[in-house]
Amino acid sequence: MSTLLKTFSQIDELRQQLAAYRRENKTIALVPTMGNLHDGHLRLVEEAKRHADLVVASIFVNPMQFNAGEDFESYPRTLEADQAMLAKAGCDLLFTPSISSVYPNGQDNQTRILVPGVSEGLCGQKRPGHFEGVATVVTKLFNFVQPDVACFGQKDYQQVTVIRKLVNDLSFPIKIIEVPTHRTPEGLALSSRNGYLTPEQLAKAPALYAVLTTMAENLTTGNTHFHELTYKARARLAEQGFAPEYVEIRNPDLSNASLDAKSWVILIAARLGKARLIDNLIVQRDSN
Ligand code: PAF
Repeated sequence: MSTLLKTFSQIDELRQQLAAYRRENKTIALVPTMGNLHDGHLRLVEEAKRHADLVVASIFVNPMQFNAGEDFESYPRTLEADQAMLAKAGCDLLFTPSISSVYPNGQDNQTRILVPGVSEGLCGQKRPGHFEGVATVVTKLFNFVQPDVACFGQKDYQQVTVIRKLVNDLSFPIKIIEVPTHRTPEGLALSSRNGYLTPEQLAKAPALYAVLTTMAENLTTGNTHFHELTYKARARLAEQGFAPEYVEIRNPDLSNASLDAKSWVILIAARLGKARLIDNLIVQRDSN
């Protein structure tokens, strides 16, 4: 399959090309990904195009954010298909660095970025070190590309929260854009890991979103019995064949849910067969 997408794997070459664009006063948006792209990623590219003159996507399956026993080795690598999708979506440039160029002294010798507070709990508890790996690679990608804006999906709510804090704490002059979760008509949030589901599990998976919306209805109509709501949601997930990891209601900044908050975020992680699914919903309290 031929593609017109300019693809760089060398950091120096990427930097030279981007410096030339910057001399022409072009603004740059970054869409960091791990590849195996789906329509949700293309929404990120579309949104990025609205905010900058040029869109750079990166594909890097970052070993530092996977724990032992997770799917680093088997994570699908689909470069040609990804290139074709990105070119079609109007992405201008693709960066595909190797592991040895991102971590030239090895991962154990790599200076790391630890974002305190928001990296803890939720996925951070189940995947120790995961957000340190994400924060470290995103910092490196920010340094390689030096974008004006960077787009991330709201599906990974904790990840975007970590990245916002990192940008703020390290004073990166980068605007972070959070793009709403893209769902199937049945409500399943698009994710590369949905590919691990069997057809039967795929048919069942939207139940996760149904649980989120039921919780949201309860919250908006004044039911703030957080413990009872999360307990019932876990039970409903288990009945439908999921193994829930967490179901939590938090304030939008991920602090513990307060009764008088104007909005909350409901976050769920649950296993279904070989896939670990995560999803979330922001709930505005009914003002009446
Ligand atoms: O969301 C992802 O795909 C990854 O965590 C990211 C942000 C590209 C960092 O490796």
